[in-house]
Amino acid sequence: MSALMQELKETVAFIQSRYSKEIKIGIILGSGLGNLANDIESELEIPYHEIPNFPLSTVKGHKGRLIFGKLNGKNVLVMAGRFHFYEGYSAKQVTFPIRVMRLLGVTTLLLSNAAGGVQDKMEVGDLMIINDHISLFQPNPLIGPNEEELGTRFPDMSEPYSKELIQKAEAIARANNIDLKLGVYCGVTGPTFETRAEYKLIHTLGGDAVGMSTVQETIVAKHSGMQVFAISVITDIGIREDENTITHEEVLQAAKDAEPKLTLLFGGLVADL
Ligand code: HPA
Repeated sequence: MSALMQELKETVAFIQSRYSKEIKIGIILGSGLGNLANDIESELEIPYHEIPNFPLSTVKGHKGRLIFGKLNGKNVLVMAGRFHFYEGYSAKQVTFPIRVMRLLGVTTLLLSNAAGGVQDKMEVGDLMIINDHISLFQPNPLIGPNEEELGTRFPDMSEPYSKELIQKAEAIARANNIDLKLGVYCGVTGPTFETRAEYKLIHTLGGDAVGMSTVQETIVAKHSGMQVFAISVITDIGIREDENTITHEEVLQAAKDAEPKLTLLFGGLVADL
């Protein structure tokens, strides 16, 4: 068995020794979006540092724990805080928890993130459903020997984000008067925010939002056969003519402000799964 499979099995056995219910839905909460965790009827929380082989989250605004519980009556496994490539973790470490989720039985993954908007007419606080992505220098986490037990060597990526889940989310948004944008998420390494020229480049390349997460997680989720739904909270606007500074604090605040809409959408989707 490969070292990765050994680690995964050890981690999964540890979690199953603490929590044995079947879980089909995994949720990852992005920067400033951790409050959705308050809506979970929590049955068990495990801080990352207690979980064998889990990296430690180092970013402000990420609480770093797995939450097992119920959302709208469904069992969910929530990652409050994720791992980012810019923290110095390898692509394999960033995506380790996704593989753990799959081995625990998760088949649907809901992702959220904070992102910079680069689409015309986007405003801070908008929600953008991700319908496709472009990786801009985020290394592919599947590079290296393929784990046949987990998935195929050359995964198809024609529908990285489930069309069915997108339609369901759009219906929930309509019913609740939530305005949704739809677009392509460009994944970059960070940790610098983009220069003006880079935001322009991303726009020219077909990106509608840009952020430092999600792409590697989606690749690994698709590799292992999960369906993925992902949404960006637009926390800053990349292309603007004059004043163009962005701080992490602004990003966190904008994410927090938009959070109730996200909670409604995720809650509705989970209820419908
Ligand atoms: N760029 C990259 N990542 C981000 C941004 C951004 O403008 N906003 C939030 N995460």
